[in-house]
Amino acid sequence: MLPEVIVTRYVTPLREGGSVPGLVEADDLGTYVAKFTGAAQGRKALIAEIVCGELARRLDLRVPDLVRLQFDPVIALGEPDAEVQDLLKASGGLNLGMDFLPGSVGFDPLAFGVEAAEAGRIIWFDALTNNVDRSWRNPNMLVWHRELWLIDHGAALIWHHNWPGARGSAPRPYDATDHALSRFVTPTAVVDAAAELAPRVTRELLAEVVALVPDEWLLEEPGFDGPDDVRGAYVDVLADRAATVHERVTLSAPPREAAAPPEWLKVWVTGKAAEAKGAEGAVDGGAR
Ligand SMILES: Nc1ncnc2c1ncn2[C@@H]1O[C@H](COP(=O)(O)OP(=O)(O)OP(=O)(O)O)[C@@H](O)[C@H]1O
Ligand SMILES: [Mg+2]
Repeated sequence: MLPEVIVTRYVTPLREGGSVPGLVEADDLGTYVAKFTGAAQGRKALIAEIVCGELARRLDLRVPDLVRLQFDPVIALGEPDAEVQDLLKASGGLNLGMDFLPGSVGFDPLAFGVEAAEAGRIIWFDALTNNVDRSWRNPNMLVWHRELWLIDHGAALIWHHNWPGARGSAPRPYDATDHALSRFVTPTAVVDAAAELAPRVTRELLAEVVALVPDEWLLEEPGFDGPDDVRGAYVDVLADRAATVHERVTLSAPPREAAAPPEWLKVWVTGKAAEAKGAEGAVDGGAR
């Protein structure tokens, strides 16, 4: 089980995050970024945070520690923003916390260099977990003590929003052309990362990771026989995908073909051409 702490103070909302995470303090004197169950992204975003974050950690990628946060909305009654109040009131009980990295800065691909091998490992991991939320527009990585830390996996594992089609998603390709690390990676680095990491993504390791998801977030999933059955489905999809996903990672955009002119332009151009030809014919005819 992930360590469990009790929130003692709601410090402030982090408005740069779409789900409006909160900065909180807890009874272990730690400071955490809280991801709330009442957010529009729902519980599945928190499941993805645990499954991806804890899997990444076991593959030696840097992810801040995760904890279970017990939250009583009474603590935040002083928060003046009505929208944030609604979010907090809808989030009583168990939520997810990520250790806050003080003094960290958001990763900027133009200001911070990354070795190809590390870029390869992160891109391979994002391909494995279908993470489309690490683009240069929104890198979701922090630089802390000159090292790269991965955050925000809430949008990954997209297939868990449609379980009947999930198993079929294993062969889907991964487009990394917009990835925040695409300028640092080489095709060889992704293949090397797969050779190093894929054998470590065993069913045993995946089972250990999904066991960390609280039962109460896995209840009432249609088509499943309880939380352990859902956990098994996560293991199946990730194990299938780990084997060959590196063969389907696109790293650079294919060369763009010259776009065909739109229909209206074709009509206009051919009309003009016909007109010109007619005029030419008239001139010719006159000359004859
Ligand atoms: N562990 C952390 N330590 C320090 N700052 C953090 C941490 N986690 C998140 N932040 C800050 O809070 C912001 C929002 O966090 P995060 O990206 O996880 O939220 P989100 O709501 O999922 O965002 P998004 O809009 O990308 O979906 C981050 O961009 C970062 O600035
Ligand atoms: Mg984010």
